Amino acid sequence: MIKVLVVGKGGREHAIVTALAESPTETEIYSFPGSDAIFELAKPVEAHDLDSLIAYLQEGDFDLCVAGEESYLVTGKGLANECARIGVPCWGPPLESAQLEASKEFAKEFMVRHSIPTGGYAAVDDADAARAAIAGKYPTVLKFDGLAAGKGVAVCLDEASAEEFIDEVLVQRKFGEGRLLIEEFLDGPEISIFASVVDGEYQILAPARDYKRIFDADGGPNTGGMGAVSSLEMFEGDLREVIEKSIVAPTVAGLQKDGLPYRGFLYFGLILTADGPKILEYNCRFGDPEAQAVLPMIEGDFASYVLAGAKGELKEDLVQFRDGWSVCLVSASAGYPASSHSGDVISGLGELSDARIYHAGTKRNDGGDYETAGGRVYAVVANGSSRQEAVERVYAESDKVSFDGMQRRSDIGTCNF
Ligand code: GLY
Repeated sequence: MIKVLVVGKGGREHAIVTALAESPTETEIYSFPGSDAIFELAKPVEAHDLDSLIAYLQEGDFDLCVAGEESYLVTGKGLANECARIGVPCWGPPLESAQLEASKEFAKEFMVRHSIPTGGYAAVDDADAARAAIAGKYPTVLKFDGLAAGKGVAVCLDEASAEEFIDEVLVQRKFGEGRLLIEEFLDGPEISIFASVVDGEYQILAPARDYKRIFDADGGPNTGGMGAVSSLEMFEGDLREVIEKSIVAPTVAGLQKDGLPYRGFLYFGLILTADGPKILEYNCRFGDPEAQAVLPMIEGDFASYVLAGAKGELKEDLVQFRDGWSVCLVSASAGYPASSHSGDVISGLGELSDARIYHAGTKRNDGGDYETAGGRVYAVVANGSSRQEAVERVYAESDKVSFDGMQRRSDIGTCNF
């Protein structure tokens, strides 16, 4: 029996908890902070911050802690560092390695040091230096050098939009203190690559693509992700080998060389340019909503796989990836992404017959019904032997569930952005 605590509360963590619960090895799952939907599979934790969470882990004789989201990895002394101190294996890297996600400048310096293909960049502290680094070249990519819940990046097509973002980051300090990175704009389809990294070893998982904007055909503002698609077939031709050789292997070797310990999922946000794959960003956890598409493709013993990895052994044979396609379709509440709407009752949750549903922003009301409680409300995920079959199935299943003000894209899985 594996006693495991999953940190996080969103759709990704609902998917991780589900994959752990479905593992053939018996599990006793806890989640912090969790959600009402997660608590159908996991027990709640009496904690309110990193210190109380660590105390709970220590007193509870846990076998494993899984970092679903990144925030606690870079809070205080770091979730994984604290787990190491109390002797609980953690799937998620220590504070020093999680800088790959927390600091965009740290990540860029790492990529350059280890000759990992990426776009050119400059890091600046003030608005004048930002303007000088942009030097009138548009489009340009501006990134806040810190955690900003997916909102710290702007692709600016012109001076007006660049000025607006520079003002938000460096004048209003909307995301707090931090530098601004001016990055070369790269063009091409994006792909999300995930690897399980255990010290110097790695296993590349099924690739995915997320859909970042609120409206069809890449329209409207960025969101936390309106859907995702995953299939081994996305590794067309020699793409897998090229990505492994130019990006994944040098990254893992670079971590070793720099003395940065790593056990956990490592997410490579890539862009497939005419000059080959280049890395846009690292994240030190699974993607959201990519996890909701990828994890249902896994067969085997996910719980034992993660436990072995956290203890320092990469047991590749414990998991396999299904053939075919998985499509994840997010439904968001009214007003998202500028705002969100709570309290809209969700109907049809019991009607799903051929798909999974992972809750992100829901809660149970006093009558016991689920209602909206956030921007992205839930993701319906369906599999199919072809991309088209998975797309048709996910829309047919998602049509069964609804709430007032629901927003959904109609092209998830059918295009590349
Ligand atoms: N899918 C984007 C992210 O997880 O950051």
